[in-house]
Amino acid sequence: MLERTISIAPMMGYTDRHARYLLRLISRHALLYTEMITTGAVLHGDRKRLLGFDSAELPVAIQLGGCDPEELAESSRIAEDAGYSEVNLNVGCPSDRVQSGRIGACLMKEPDLVAECVHMMQSRVSVPVTVKCRIGVDHMEDYEAFLAFIETVANAGCDTFIVHARKAWLKGLNPKQNREIPPLRYEYVHRLKTEHPELNIIINGGIKTLEEISAQREHVDGVMLGREAYHNPYLLSRVDELFYGDDQRPLSRDEIMEAFIAYTEQQVETGTKLHAVSRHLLGLYKHVPGSSEWKRYLSSNIHKPGANTDVLRQAQHIFTS
Ligand SMILES: Cc1cc2nc3c(=O)[nH]c(=O)nc-3n(C[C@H](O)[C@H](O)[C@H](O)COP(=O)(O)O)c2cc1C
Repeated sequence: MLERTISIAPMMGYTDRHARYLLRLISRHALLYTEMITTGAVLHGDRKRLLGFDSAELPVAIQLGGCDPEELAESSRIAEDAGYSEVNLNVGCPSDRVQSGRIGACLMKEPDLVAECVHMMQSRVSVPVTVKCRIGVDHMEDYEAFLAFIETVANAGCDTFIVHARKAWLKGLNPKQNREIPPLRYEYVHRLKTEHPELNIIINGGIKTLEEISAQREHVDGVMLGREAYHNPYLLSRVDELFYGDDQRPLSRDEIMEAFIAYTEQQVETGTKLHAVSRHLLGLYKHVPGSSEWKRYLSSNIHKPGANTDVLRQAQHIFTS
């Protein structure tokens, strides 16, 4: 069974394969998610580039964006063949661009369609199919409407829901505002777990500390971290011990750098730009004296033409001098 005690959220522009490789060096157990990939891209795009990843990243869930049951089913099959551990359907993203494609949070208004999508996806793969959603959209804001959505989709066979515990406004707020302005209502998610203990319920939204994770674990099956895990990834260094009972010593930040530099070298040799890989390191030393200088140094040097891993080694001198 796939362990979902701690997972790292799908984040467009952030959780690409390089970020995931870094996160995996920090936690051996957390379940990692890809950025959202549309069915159009899976079916017609450059699959090697879009779906390729390093097996060291596993377990990794792929998040799909789409609303056509057949296209989602076929994309799920392709994703399973590519080696992903779970297929997740995005029912939470409120951007205008995805709404126009009937993708993301607007699907909260179409529970029957989501149920059909999930049913078709499950019929094509043996890995778990999960849904990431909000607690509502627009004026759909009472608990009963949220519950009705979940029950409809659960009746189609989905047993795992990741819930970003705030609703989204489909008009008037941009995606960033939709991650900050609608209030968090963790109580909806806790109540859902109480009323449906047979479902796996993962809570998401605004969770930033190990203490908060522990407190949430009293109510739900798992916790998904987004922005904090990206901007302060070393937070994850304690989750294996605290939430998976794994007492293997976590790598220090410097050991992580050593391993990540080796990975970066391989990537650069095969034509990837240094900044595409190393931009994910900016938050690694957060809360360590010198971290602002580290960020500044990397930000102004990793983009320079011909830049190589010497930039990363040089940056590390900030902490040793
Ligand atoms: C830059 C960025 C990109 C995101 N992209 C996605 C996405 O592709 N799919 C998705 O379901 N959620 C996406 N999200 C939302 C996150 O998965 C998560 O639900 C949200 O950030 C709330 O969790 P947090 O408060 O722990 O960050 C994105 C969030 C951010 C900050």
